[in-house]
Amino acid sequence: DKSKIVVVGSCGIDFTTYAPRLPLPGETLIGNKFTTSFGGKGANQSVAAAKTGGNVYMICRVGDDLWGEKYKEHLKNAGIDVTNAHVTKDTTTGIAQISVADNGENQIVIVPGANKHLSKSDVENAKELIKTADVLIGQLETPYETTLEAFKLNNGIKLLNAAPAMAHIQTILPYCTILCVNEPEASLLVNFNVNVSNIKIALHKLLESGCQTAIITLGEKGAAYSLKSTGECVHVFGNKVTAIDTTGAGDAFVGALASLLVNDKIQPFHQLIGAACEYATMTVTTEGTQTSYPGNYIPFTKKYDYVTL
Ligand code: RIB
Ligand code: NA
Repeated sequence: DKSKIVVVGSCGIDFTTYAPRLPLPGETLIGNKFTTSFGGKGANQSVAAAKTGGNVYMICRVGDDLWGEKYKEHLKNAGIDVTNAHVTKDTTTGIAQISVADNGENQIVIVPGANKHLSKSDVENAKELIKTADVLIGQLETPYETTLEAFKLNNGIKLLNAAPAMAHIQTILPYCTILCVNEPEASLLVNFNVNVSNIKIALHKLLESGCQTAIITLGEKGAAYSLKSTGECVHVFGNKVTAIDTTGAGDAFVGALASLLVNDKIQPFHQLIGAACEYATMTVTTEGTQTSYPGNYIPFTKKYDYVTL
């Protein structure tokens, strides 16, 4: 039967304003557009995995407000199994207030709401599913202890997207088959400012902290990774496009990577990374997160360029 991708993570409604630039503290700007859409890193990654052909199960919590049931329905419509999507009483569904500037930059404030209630017993109740998942994905918008518990149970590929940035995640890293972070998230973990010029040192430092593979995504510059097994360190180049909205591009990368890992096992790792970058890049050219994730994506129609560091 089909490989299982299980996501233990967040759901949230994104309230997004679009304005010429981001506001300064205390400043009021007139924006030109407002949208309400389905977001949250866990759900975004689930949807990206489903849209790239994955067989996805989501373990999450929504509130009993007007968004909770709607969100479950939405995931179901995306082909995602919601048997373990629970409703928490007297709680709001997670929300994110997002500001997007004309140059594609964004600013986000999250209120976790029901996401905070995703518990170890939710993990316990989905034990068999988590154990047997071919890929288990976690992020840091739901309680850390819950994600850690799930990672301890799983026998497959454990993919942690350590976002949003959080410093004290040392105890989960030894359970991570793959750790995926962007530059600011990596910087917090390694204690120096990570950029393309020092990426090899950063990757090695991440590997030393216990994960088997470390990936640092670099936006339009692609992504770099290092494998503990071979010691290889590779930078896969990205494509420059005109960014309209970069929100959720990292989630598209993670979700697509999960699908690629189970469906195209034969590809060398740098080509998987290249394909995941390509998918993420497609999403920044249109507004929104999940709404910008293409459903008809065909990977490996070309070779992705890379260099060994
Ligand atoms: O990674 C993007 C996501 O982060 C948005 O959808 C928003 O919900 C925030 O959680
Ligand atoms: Na987008």
